[in-house]
Amino acid sequence: MRILGIETSCDETAAAIVEEVDDPARPWVIRSSVVSSQVEIHREWGGVVPELASRQHVRDICGVVERAMADASVTPADLGAISVTQGPGLVGSLLVGVSFAKSLAAAWRLPLVPVHHLAGHIESLFLQHGPLPMTAMVLVVSGGHTSLYHVRAPGQYHSIGRTRDDAAGEAYDKVAKLLGLSYPGGPVIDRLAKGGNDRAVEFPAARMTHPDRNEPLQKGQWDFSFSGVKTAVLRHVRGKGEGWQPSDPEVADICASFQRAVVGSLIERTFEAARWFDAKSIGIAGGVSANSRLRQDASARGERAGVPVFLPSLALSTDNAAMIAAAGLRRYRAGMLAGLDLNAEAALQL
Ligand code: KG4
Ligand code: ZN
Repeated sequence: MRILGIETSCDETAAAIVEEVDDPARPWVIRSSVVSSQVEIHREWGGVVPELASRQHVRDICGVVERAMADASVTPADLGAISVTQGPGLVGSLLVGVSFAKSLAAAWRLPLVPVHHLAGHIESLFLQHGPLPMTAMVLVVSGGHTSLYHVRAPGQYHSIGRTRDDAAGEAYDKVAKLLGLSYPGGPVIDRLAKGGNDRAVEFPAARMTHPDRNEPLQKGQWDFSFSGVKTAVLRHVRGKGEGWQPSDPEVADICASFQRAVVGSLIERTFEAARWFDAKSIGIAGGVSANSRLRQDASARGERAGVPVFLPSLALSTDNAAMIAAAGLRRYRAGMLAGLDLNAEAALQL
């Protein structure tokens, strides 16, 4: 069984073919994965411009899907279903993928499988590694979301915490903008931080709780907050006086110090939650999971704690359609299909 996945929730137009094979250790195999990124278009504006994004999706979608089909050497007759990101995301962008997927499903007489974007990020871990030891504590950390899910069984995602304000990736993007660095900020800060001193500036990490497992579970206990650290960077820069231009080493120090605070709080909260829920594995997915320090520190902490940590490859960390195809296969097997009245939902809940 092969499935076509389509993803257009933000500023990447993506299509992929994933095949289900008879291997319990690695049941999903990527046959092709094509991503057309719009970052060059949005960089000029310092962030994603929704109207430009949806127009570019319209231009790119046909070619991207054709390319994914050609790379996998498949024709419509080789496909068993079509999956598409239904939400959350920019509604104009989502509509391009949803309309296109519906048209293909109608023309090729194939079942249509709607997928939640964050379910796609979670399933990127299963796509990459096969079934994770259950239960799993999964952190989804991207430009739009920072959420913790307790995955009690494959396909069963229980939301236990989320950011109360900015997503971690959003904080990276905003801090980069304020330092005069280019969009998207995550990869730039990650690179510059390598040359800086992470103790140069003391930025407050989000408040840490040290929950005692005998205490009752409290609402919001596993939430994150990143607006504080972002504001601290702003204050630090403004505190230097009007027109202050940080030198390259100063920028590197700010990047390293900011990254230490953000990565520290992501890891702390995720490992605490894993301990509380007695999870047998930890997964970290989403665009920010491409961060080199997060990858290193989480893996090292996992070794110390004796909990295996799973990360997607760099290509599967940021937005792609292979993860949407994988999540689509899971839902298809559960019989969760949609009709041709499917609509995009900007604020879809998982
Ligand atoms: O998952 P994704 O591609 O799109 C969303 O669903 O939001 O994530 C994009 C986010 C951006 O905020 C970007 O700055 C961040 O992921 N990002 C990184 C890195 N690479 C991408 N953040 C930190 N370090 C990186 N290496
Ligand atoms: Zn994403």
